[in-house]
Amino acid sequence: MGKKILLEHINVPGIETYDVYRKQGGYTAVEKALKTMTPDEVVEEVKKSGVRGRGGAGFPMGMKWSFLAKPEGVPRYLVCNADESEPGTFKDHYLMKNLPHVLIEGMIISSYALGANKSFIYVRGELMYVVRILEKAIAEAKAAGFLGKNILGTGYDLELVVQPGGGAYICGEETALLESLEGKRGNPRNKPPFPAVKGLYQSPTVVNNVESIATTSWIINNGGEAYAAIGIGRSAGTKLISASGHIKKPGVYEIELGVPVEEFIYSDEWCGGIRDGHHLKAVVAGGSSVPILPANLILKLANGDPRLMTYESLSDGGFQTGTMLGSGGFIVFDETSCIVRNTWNFARFYHHESCGQCSPCREGTGWMERVLHRIEYGHGNQHDIDLLVDVAKKIEGNTICPLGDAAAWPVASAIRHFRDEFEWHITNPSEATQPGAVFKGD
Ligand code: NAI
Ligand code: SF4
Repeated sequence: MGKKILLEHINVPGIETYDVYRKQGGYTAVEKALKTMTPDEVVEEVKKSGVRGRGGAGFPMGMKWSFLAKPEGVPRYLVCNADESEPGTFKDHYLMKNLPHVLIEGMIISSYALGANKSFIYVRGELMYVVRILEKAIAEAKAAGFLGKNILGTGYDLELVVQPGGGAYICGEETALLESLEGKRGNPRNKPPFPAVKGLYQSPTVVNNVESIATTSWIINNGGEAYAAIGIGRSAGTKLISASGHIKKPGVYEIELGVPVEEFIYSDEWCGGIRDGHHLKAVVAGGSSVPILPANLILKLANGDPRLMTYESLSDGGFQTGTMLGSGGFIVFDETSCIVRNTWNFARFYHHESCGQCSPCREGTGWMERVLHRIEYGHGNQHDIDLLVDVAKKIEGNTICPLGDAAAWPVASAIRHFRDEFEWHITNPSEATQPGAVFKGD
């Protein structure tokens, strides 16, 4: 079995309650941090660990913390981004539902390190039952003296607030989330200024993902160096992967970064292989926002070496032959999947979720959706494929927030790797529009 940091106690009955979590060693990291370390020492430990943001961008967490501005007399905030909405990504949901105290403990340590006295957990609006689980865990932690005024007699005060999200994918973008938390429509802000300088209520704010915050207890208990020793190089530690699609064992898995992709897909410890009688066609490795790769490229690098589940290995080859680890939403497709239909489905999602502030995203996502729809439904023409590539290029890098890129990359990569499927749909519309029809190759 691989190393477990976050899910070590997942199978202990009652682990969602304070009493059982405490018996398993819970909240000892809060005691250690608050009683024996200064906030700067906690930041230093997280820096040493090399842990990178687990929401998708992979930005070094300790570095982000050290960017936090500290003007005199101005409050600072920690906001946990629990608005997980990336198609194919459901690991934060799993963690909060089953191990709420792991997140609450991480929130206390992280808030202490950043000098925040009021912190927020912004939870995807559809997950009201998770909001209640977290509120119950917060009440338990408060009753035990780990939240509120003068925690453990150290003089440190912390109030934790759980806020249900606005119900839109874009509210997971960090600045849209802050707008929404302030009670406004969730429209992304221009960056810079980054939230570390001007965030919630214009005050310095750190926005971290659920999984990132949850790792801090282990780092404080075991030391940053011990964390950095897990994984490979700049991909330190473990990562939760949400595995879905045509595999035998969909679910949430904690892997040590560095596992070969092939092992992750075929080993019984994780996905258990492709469903019987079928074979691997393609993988979206990091949630719907990252490029799709065909079987040969997801399993092996251009030089023939195995591709690994790390930030570096998955992106090896850039966007020509690589992809991204992203949020770890690992979607597996077998040969019964139609890439055109899937690409249209993703495009439909991004068009629907675009906030409409910038023209390339607002108009471009609509164009891509309409053109893909007509190709899928047998009305495409020969210029449509190049038109899609052109629209994707015009969106990429020209928008306020990453939703534009997230919409463009799946389309551009599907055409790059599966162009013959798009052409087949255009040249064989009557065959391609039959129910369940899939391109079988030339
Ligand atoms: P980003 O790369 O712009 O920023 C990463 C983080 O570093 C942000 O918190 C940003 O404020 C901070 N940062 C970067 N440079 C900084 C500087 N100079 N000073 C201070 N802070 C700085 O990426 P972003 O927009 O935060 O996230 C995009 C990612 O989110 C995508 O890779 C995508 O995979 C992922 N995503 C995840 C979803 C989910 O449900 N988990 C949903 C949608 C997207
Ligand atoms: Fe809104 Fe799209 Fe612009 Fe992001 S890229 S701000 S979602 S219009």
